[in-house]
Amino acid sequence: MRKLIVANWKMNKGIVQSQQFAEELREYTEKHKITHCEIVICPPYTSLEAVHRKLDGSSIAVGAQNVFYETSGAFTGEVSAGMLKSCGCEYVITGHSERRSYFHETDAIINKKVMAVLDEGLKPILCIGETLQEHEDKITEAVIEEQINHCLAHIDSDSVRNIVIAYEPVWAIGTGKNATPHQVEHAHNFIRRKIKKIYNEDVANNIRIIYGGSITPDNASDLFSSNTINGGLVGGASLELESFIQIINSAKK
Ligand code: PGA
Repeated sequence: MRKLIVANWKMNKGIVQSQQFAEELREYTEKHKITHCEIVICPPYTSLEAVHRKLDGSSIAVGAQNVFYETSGAFTGEVSAGMLKSCGCEYVITGHSERRSYFHETDAIINKKVMAVLDEGLKPILCIGETLQEHEDKITEAVIEEQINHCLAHIDSDSVRNIVIAYEPVWAIGTGKNATPHQVEHAHNFIRRKIKKIYNEDVANNIRIIYGGSITPDNASDLFSSNTINGGLVGGASLELESFIQIINSAKK
């Protein structure tokens, strides 16, 4: 399976910086014929269309960092999946731990968002993962099992194939403390077994499970050398073109 490398810029970069990054990344990938992995850039809402214009016709896709689950109406400040599609988005991050903790998103809300994204024919990147306390209490499996059960409720086996699961242990996000490849493999294998139980073996073998949490050029090769880790969701290290390119190149076999 080709690795999926996703840049999550979070609340960083205005239009000018976003366009410049997109242009330079496109130039690099075209010049060096980068085809070993699939790349997705998730800028803030305000830069989506500008980045899409710069990347249109390239092999790099655009994604959003969030979405609201209603299609339209009186929801001041919110953005629907259809609106994201009209900006050129193919992917939408749902259930990021920062959304869960700062904006009180529950698994039930995230489930609605995942369904809204699928209804528009876009691909959700569903984030799950345990907190530091849960990690220390050794209840990681129970936590991610619960998240999967609720976030994937009402989603059938045809639709689930369009979902990317991002395992992001909360204690590793933005902390500089990445999970080890061994820890990630363990969690990914658990997630795949769980998907097999809910759906079937074919779905489980083909669903993409990526890792996120303090990925850097220094640890990316180790993480990506594992076949059970199908790519990465990169926050801080995706903000600088050079480090993001190094991470992309780490996904080469
Ligand atoms: P980080 O963020 O790479 O800065 O830890 C990852 C994420 O939040 O998706």
